This record gives sequence, C-alpha cells and structure tokens, in this order.
Amino acid sequence: MSKTISIVGTGYVGLTTAAILSNIGYKVYTIDVDQKKIDTIKSGKSFFYEDGLDDFVKKGIDSGNLIPTLSYEESIPTSDIVFSCVGTPDREDGSPNLDYIFSAAQSVAQYAKQNIIFVQKSTVPVGTGRKVIEFIKNKNHDLQFSYISNPEFLAEGSAVFDTLNIDRLVIGGDNTEALEEVQKVFETVDTFVKSLDTTKFAGYAAFYKSGKEVINSTPFIERVIRTNLESAELIKVTANAFLALKISFANSIAKLCDETNADVNEVMHGVGADHRIGKAFLYAGLGWGGGCFPKDVSGLVNVAKNYDIEMDIMNAAVDANDSMIDYMIHKMESLLGNLEGKKIAVLGLSFKPGTSDVRKSQSIKLANKLVYKKAHLSAFDPQAMEEAQKTLDVSVSLKENINDTIKDADAVIIATEWKEFLNYNWSDAKSLMSGKLIVDARNRLNKKELKNLGFDYIGIGR
Ligand code: UDX
Repeated sequence: MSKTISIVGTGYVGLTTAAILSNIGYKVYTIDVDQKKIDTIKSGKSFFYEDGLDDFVKKGIDSGNLIPTLSYEESIPTSDIVFSCVGTPDREDGSPNLDYIFSAAQSVAQYAKQNIIFVQKSTVPVGTGRKVIEFIKNKNHDLQFSYISNPEFLAEGSAVFDTLNIDRLVIGGDNTEALEEVQKVFETVDTFVKSLDTTKFAGYAAFYKSGKEVINSTPFIERVIRTNLESAELIKVTANAFLALKISFANSIAKLCDETNADVNEVMHGVGADHRIGKAFLYAGLGWGGGCFPKDVSGLVNVAKNYDIEMDIMNAAVDANDSMIDYMIHKMESLLGNLEGKKIAVLGLSFKPGTSDVRKSQSIKLANKLVYKKAHLSAFDPQAMEEAQKTLDVSVSLKENINDTIKDADAVIIATEWKEFLNYNWSDAKSLMSGKLIVDARNRLNKKELKNLGFDYIGIGR
C-alpha cells in the first residue's frame, strides 16, 4: 500500500478512481488542467453529481491521501503508477481527438522516474497504445517504463458502485510484472469493498437490489482478463458498440410493436429471458446518448475505415437511434395535431438518470426539436439543470420541481427515467395540466393506471 499513484484527468473515471484508491490508503495525486475543478475537489466535493462520490472525496481529502493538483512536476516524479483518465472528445469526422492522451504521455516522458507503469484507462482506438509507447521512447530514450491498457467499464450514475464492485478487470500489455502490479492494485479494491460497511456508506442503495446485497462473490482472480495490448483496447469499444446495437435493435422492434398492438416491454422481457441474449440494454425508448456510446460507436466505425472495413451494422444502429426523436414527435403530432403553441413539459434532461451529464442527451435533442416546432416548453431535471442550460434552447422555461413544470401543460414527456418521475403521484397531475397527454419516452410508467386516471398515453412500442 506504500504505492504512490497519479491520475491524469479528473472526469467521471479519474476522480472516482482517485477518490476510492485514496480511501484504500494509496497516496493519490489527481491532476487536471482546470483550476476550478481542482479547487472544488480540494474543498472535499465532486464537481459533478454521482451517488456516494462526495463521501469518498471528502474522506480522501481529510486523510491527506487524495491530493488534487494542477502540477505534473509535483505529482509524476514520485509516482509508481500513472493512470491516464483523460477525455478523448470526438472530432467532426467521428475520430477521437487524442491530444490529451499524448499530453499525458508527454508528462510521463518528461517527469516519470525509472520503471514507471503507465496505465491507459481512457478509451482509445485500437493501435494507440503502440503509438504512445513509441512517443514516450522518442521523447525520453533513457526511461524504462511499462504500458498497460486497462479499459474502464463504469457507467455514469453508478460510477462508485461499479468502481468498487469490479465485475471484470481487463488488463492488456507485454510486461507480466507490470500486469501483476496493476492487478494487485485492483485486488486491494476488491478486498476493500468486502470490508466496507455498505449500510453506512452514502451510496449504499446501489449495493442493494430487491433487498439483496449485490457484491460480486466470484473469486477476484476469475474476474481478471489478461490480453495483449490491442485486444484490451478493442474490448472496451466493442462492448459499448454492442450495447448500443442492442438498444437500437429494441427500438426498431418497438416501431413494429406500435403497428401491431404488441408491447415492446413484454416482447423484450420474453426475448431477454433467453440467457444467451439477456435482458440488459433491451429497454426501448428515446435512444442512447451520453459521453460514451455515441463517441465509441463513431470511433469504432472510424478506426475500421482506416483498414477499409465498413461497419455498416453500426451505421444502421446510429441511424436507428437518430430516428427516435422524429419518431416521438410524429407520435405526439398524431394526438395533438400541429405542435405550434402547444405547452409541453419535459421531465428529465440528463442522458440517463443518476447523473448531471447531458452530453448527447436525447432528451435535450427532443426538447430543442419541439422548440423548433414552435411548441412552448417547460423543463425540469433533478440534477442536470445547470449543465442543460448550455445546450438547451434559451426559450425553454426552466422550473424547480415537477408540479411547476407540468402546470397548464397540454402534454408531459418523461424524457429521462429519474425515479422522482416514476414515483410521482400522477393523479395530482390531472388538475395541474390543461391537457391529458403523458408521453412515456422511456417506457417506465404504468400505462394501464394512467389510462384509468383518464390520461392519453404514448410510449414507444407499447
Ligand atoms: C456506458 C457503458 O454502460 C459503460 O460500461 C461504459 O464504461 C461507459 O458507457 P454510460 O454512458 O454511463 O455507460 O450509460 P449507460 O447506462 O450504458 O446508458 C447509455 C445510454 O443508453 C443512455 O442514454 C440510456 O438511457 C440508454 N439506454 C440504456 C437505453 O435506451 N436502453 C437500455 O436498455 C439501456
């Protein structure tokens, strides 16, 4: 545990990893170029919302183990392991911008001590690792270092839970000793979670499903997947692309359900019961967004193109996803007629519940398209109001709670399935709204109940 670790980039992956490792007892520098982010972390808080994270950040800061810094000079030279958790935003052509990857590599080349292990957690196109190795070698001929690809699978909204509860550890590289060292770090995470009193932990709800604690009981070693460098790089994007594909497939079937009186929730329940398929990621709805799926899918299409391979199947998944916004609007028009002047309340702006992240949010795309159709919009999100304002049309009237948002509305759209909306007492809405249309864009409400209350109901495929 005497290891010192530097984490370059303090986003969802970087800060969550840093906070947890610091709670285990590692000395962890968390590095970012953004002074505001560093100051917020220094004050013992995360700068984004994630269940349970503040607790770990605060304990890390209070113990002195978590050290936020802007300085590579302060952090890298004493570190045994450097994790790169920087962003790889996509460019116009769909290829990821790797500038931050190479600036993290530059910091290693410039400041690292001998035998440093450089771990790539950022999602990069297959083949990047070899280029990074060459880059560091060219910048510093004398440095002995190992490079490992360790893709991250945490999902937003359950980042702390996913980081603690390792379902698989993928590590790829050529140096067995270095792979061993990185594996040991994550083994301490696994030991730590088992010692944690999850009932006293702020994000403890995540550890319970239907009253049952869900800590992975498979022996840690059986969850470790060691591969070569390129395989590890490809596993991450392939997994995300496949999940996106599953959702787009469910959405295509949902359209057929709409035409045939089948209910897509029932269909996918039956289909997912086949253990070869599985139920996860078959929820039809407004489609997928976020900081990963859109970027990873376009990244995969793009890298394949470099080898003259057309990923038609992924292009089709993207088209199916894009089509969901107009599909939803079309369904609304079929009940409300022309949307011009209609008052529409949008509940949920983040790309999924449990996060303040609005990147590539389908909810925001839908809201902005409704504004374009000249509807009058009000909107509310439990966590994402501040972030949403950056991309949401300025004409959208932002409210502070559900009741204010749906007041006088002709239609209410549940665009993101926050539990606040699913648990809302819809009989209250009746007297507040001026119309009676509920648009369940995530298929999570009780259709029968709403109809019994006198609402018109639109879902996707049900
Ligand atoms: C994803 C991967 O799940 C995670 O393993 C990886 O590390 C990062 O990318 P994330 O982007 O946080 O995580 O969100 P995820 O929960 O996967 O959802 C992605 C999008 O798919 C959301 O917009 C969500 O609303 C949508 N979705 C998900 C569906 O529409 N239907 C589903 O059945 C599941």
